Amino acid sequence: MTINWILERVEESGSTNEDLLKRWREGQLWEPVARKALKQTAGRGRMGRTWVSQDNQALTFSAAYPFNKSIAQLSGLSLACGLAVIKGISSATNITEHQLETMGLGLKWPNDVLLHQKKLAGLLIEGGQTNADQPTWIVIGIGVNLRSFDAIKNGLDQEIAGLDQLGGSVPIDADVLWLAILKELAEVIQKFERESFNSFKEEWNKWDLFKNQLCSIYQDKKMLHEGIERGVDELGYLLLESNGQIQKIVSGDVSLRKLT
Ligand code: BTN
Repeated sequence: MTINWILERVEESGSTNEDLLKRWREGQLWEPVARKALKQTAGRGRMGRTWVSQDNQALTFSAAYPFNKSIAQLSGLSLACGLAVIKGISSATNITEHQLETMGLGLKWPNDVLLHQKKLAGLLIEGGQTNADQPTWIVIGIGVNLRSFDAIKNGLDQEIAGLDQLGGSVPIDADVLWLAILKELAEVIQKFERESFNSFKEEWNKWDLFKNQLCSIYQDKKMLHEGIERGVDELGYLLLESNGQIQKIVSGDVSLRKLT
């Protein structure tokens, strides 16, 4: 059985994540719902950043789902959802996962999908449990750049990739991609509910673009740790090796950078 998403498609929203979170806070969420906006005026990213996307040049949507697990049991969910984005891209473009991998697509801990080391997609997962007898409502916000754009001109500190760089002859339709990702997201969510991140760990580590590279962990502008990135553990924590010791990094407010 798959998830029967209520589909909402709007011209404009401040942030589709905020729209669904507001409903959750007001007790107005009952069924799984996916909300897509052609344009976001206040798109949000991780760590209080803004998510900038060009109107009609990105797929921006959020999906809200009621989990029968506590927040603690959902550790690693955002990483598993990154796998759903890759699978959705594969299905919508008709490019196999193996081909995508050889074309330079992969994951950067915790939640980025990169193409040629540039950011193609990001995920922002929010929500919680208002009462112990209530489900844990999770809002999974996903932004995928359909076309690349000049990051510097747009005031971003990170280079941006677009699905147009995969070289297909026909532009990728945002609705086709949306439905493909939602289908994969449903599979990931249901498997996660039955099992845990442990079942996704091996696959996530296969897509990890920074594995075995010298990396650092930053909080704001401060470097907290440095070491060789060794993939993730069964909870989705990042493993960083330095001086023969493995340190576990929880995603929270930190970001990962490659040191080369
Ligand atoms: C990140 O990379 O920092 C996360 C980006 C998440 C962006 C998506 S776009 C749809 C949804 N609505 C938002 O305001 N943010 C997420």
